[in-house]
Amino acid sequence: MFPTTLLTALLLAFSVAANPVVIDRPPVTLHLSRRVNVTSIHNLLRHDQARAKALKAKGAAKAAGTTLDTRAIINEQVDNQAVTYIASVGVGSPATNFLKPDDLLIDTGSSNTWVGAGKAYVRTSASTQTSNRVSVTYGSGSFSGNEFTDQVTLASGLVIPRQSIGVATRSQGFDGVDGILGIGPVDLTEGTLSPATNSLVPTVTDNLFSQGTITNNEIGISFEPTTTVEVLNGELTWGGTDSSKFTGSITFIPITSTSPASFFWGINQSIRYGTSTNILSTTAGIVDTGTTLILIATDAFNRYRSATGAVVDNTVGLFRITTAQFARLQSLFFTAGGRSFELTANAQIWPRSLNTAIGGTTNNVYLIVNDLGTNSGEGLDFINGYTFLERFYSVFDTSNNRVGFATTPFTTATTN
Ligand SMILES: *[C@@H]1O[C@H](CO)[C@@H](O)[C@H](O)[C@H]1NC(C)=O
Ligand SMILES: *[C@@H]1O[C@H](CO)[C@@H](O)[C@H](O)[C@H]1NC(C)=O
Repeated sequence: MFPTTLLTALLLAFSVAANPVVIDRPPVTLHLSRRVNVTSIHNLLRHDQARAKALKAKGAAKAAGTTLDTRAIINEQVDNQAVTYIASVGVGSPATNFLKPDDLLIDTGSSNTWVGAGKAYVRTSASTQTSNRVSVTYGSGSFSGNEFTDQVTLASGLVIPRQSIGVATRSQGFDGVDGILGIGPVDLTEGTLSPATNSLVPTVTDNLFSQGTITNNEIGISFEPTTTVEVLNGELTWGGTDSSKFTGSITFIPITSTSPASFFWGINQSIRYGTSTNILSTTAGIVDTGTTLILIATDAFNRYRSATGAVVDNTVGLFRITTAQFARLQSLFFTAGGRSFELTANAQIWPRSLNTAIGGTTNNVYLIVNDLGTNSGEGLDFINGYTFLERFYSVFDTSNNRVGFATTPFTTATTN
């Protein structure tokens, strides 16, 4: 620990600094691996659109003051996600369970943490079953089960002695993983428990903050583009940001007041193609690690499609351009918080080395920008999924109700 005087000096320094706290201490970071499931052909688009529909419905219900059962309106064939970011998390005590950690999806678009989809949950002396059932529908999957409190070990030094977690008795759409680490806003847990329907379930971040392990209720996420099937190349930092993962400064964007995006990590943003083609005028949408693609409202996507010349590829479900069109593909500029974030042509395409993993043809050029499935003006008009977040460092700041973006060494890299 720091001597008190030094700590006081640091806190004073932090309180006057314009920039956020930057933390480089290894104990506050959790490494993430990106995994591509190549064992079957996946429909990336259908998965993401079903999720988008469920997120919008959930947000709209919250805006109306109800907690809608999304199962009532979302009735899509569920697909596993083809590409996922996974964290290995220890549940229970003693920590010997760390020998068999749970592989959890990192999800900023939901806020319940749960296990049991893959390997069976093992009760230890730290486990206590509560009187609540728990159930969450994601559009691209669902689970239900019993709510427990248990010790959760995110990394050495990042231990939550009594975290409320779901233990699935039934789950769908999560083959190959054990559950979800939900790091969205805590309000999204409302209505997930029963009978305690009105109770919120504090997220792991909330608990780390309230127990004093971290001094800011904030998360920094680094994803990196990759062309291999499984690689440890992401990082989640609690309580601050990791300055080794981004370049320049972080631009902070206030959470939008427009519903339903306001219930998620929602921001106002506009999108332009090249120097002057407007794709989407300033509107609300969300930043989401549970969505693979970048989805934009149908009218905006039609403008992008005519600007690029893309045609739908019925085999993979993504849009495709020719190599000649790719050579002419312009950057997309995402403007938010008064700054423009440039998504290069290379960043707009699916890694060609992974084309076959999604059932595509080796040399085709598939675009990672696609149709949200509804027109703009509905309060959630885009989703910056992780194909965006692999190019920009992101910060999810609950204390200050804002999202941050910064460039990284990979923002303009030619990887795809
Ligand atoms: C890959 O997807 C298939 C089909 O959805 C599933 O059966 C399998 O368990 C998944 N494997 C991994 C490692 O995610
Ligand atoms: C976002 O856009 C809406 C609609 O134009 C506007 O009312 C709001 O002030 C903007 N900013 C924020 C932070 O919500």
